Amino acid sequence: MRIAIPRETDANEGRVAATPETVKRFAGLGASVVVQSGAGLASGVTDADYQAAGATIVPDARETLKDADIALKVRRPGETELSMIKPGALVIATMDPYGHESAVEAMARAGVSAFAMEFMPRITRAQSMDVLSSQANLAGYRAVIDGAAEYGRALPMMMTAAGTVPAAKIFIMGVGVAGLQAIATARRLGAVVTATDVRPATKEQVESLGAKFLAVEDEEFQQAQTAGGYAKEMSKEYQAKQAALVASHIAKQDIVITTALIPGRPAPKLVSAAMVESMRPGSVIVDLAVERGGNCELAKPGEIATTPNGVKIVGHLNVAGRLAATASALYAKNLFAFVETLIDKDAKALKPNWDDELVKATLLTRDGAIVHPNFLPKAA
Ligand code: NAI
Repeated sequence: MRIAIPRETDANEGRVAATPETVKRFAGLGASVVVQSGAGLASGVTDADYQAAGATIVPDARETLKDADIALKVRRPGETELSMIKPGALVIATMDPYGHESAVEAMARAGVSAFAMEFMPRITRAQSMDVLSSQANLAGYRAVIDGAAEYGRALPMMMTAAGTVPAAKIFIMGVGVAGLQAIATARRLGAVVTATDVRPATKEQVESLGAKFLAVEDEEFQQAQTAGGYAKEMSKEYQAKQAALVASHIAKQDIVITTALIPGRPAPKLVSAAMVESMRPGSVIVDLAVERGGNCELAKPGEIATTPNGVKIVGHLNVAGRLAATASALYAKNLFAFVETLIDKDAKALKPNWDDELVKATLLTRDGAIVHPNFLPKAA
């Protein structure tokens, strides 16, 4: 059983799919792990670290992927990588398949069994495999750090001989995994924190973290959470009420961090150009939803934009990747936890149970065909 860890091909991706810790654990399951030279460098892991954990280091992607039974990646493999992977091998990554249907087809054509880690069901058994949570938690933390770095003032209240510095006001919009960590981080840094969401369950969570909850709590709000625990897309009427409520609040904030997402939909627009204009010069907006269209009308993917009235809008991509070492450590453990379920421990061999609900939920392609119901060809 051979597990390959190629270097990520995207120049902006600093994460890596295995750490010395997971390499050691894979070896314990009877696997031989092959790591491409330099794969861990951007996450602070050297070839020697991997070697010490029992991995074999090879110079290039072709050598790494040759004869691999499992290829572990952060991002979906491109055509070149696919051409190096043998048919029947498992490829496990965050596949970002929506809107990239041709890439899913390419994986089917390559004959690999492609698993999308972000489709892992959020059930108790799979909690340790939940890459969305492990990465969103770090993104929420980093959003506060990025916001604080762009903000020209201090966050905590300080009473000094030279005068008193007021605490910064931070508003978190969207209180899922990222938003909760953003609240906790902003509180630790001494900011005065408020937060909003459309799911009623978040009110108590916000308050338990010592922040103040602000939301339109009407009948629609009471129904806003789906059975899966996600938010619904709110009606135009609700959106208008929400905008009216938050507009005056945003005008008084120093940092606004937006994290609001709706599964399978573009991110809801929560911060209008007019709201940005109402903020004081030097204020900062960090839009974590920028890869899904953005919560702030003026956010630009991959850029820090400054408006004419001096408000900075931070639109970093891959925010978890800005903490590459920590993000890799957690992501690698998520992968290990899943791969462990695909291995027969007695036989020390790969033996996926194709009927397992975790496999069914995440498997996109197998035996040359697309198998995930969300991506089956239209005619089927
Ligand atoms: P997400 O990333 O899909 O969305 C982020 C937040 O934005 C959510 O709290 C959502 O309610 C909010 N939002 C959406 N539209 C909004 C709007 N118009 N205005 C304000 N806020 C808006 O959410 P995430 O972080 O993936 O969490 C989703 C759910 O999954 C939560 O209920 C969370 O507790 C649950 N969860 C469960 C886990 C488990 O293992 N059981 C693990 C992780 C999360």
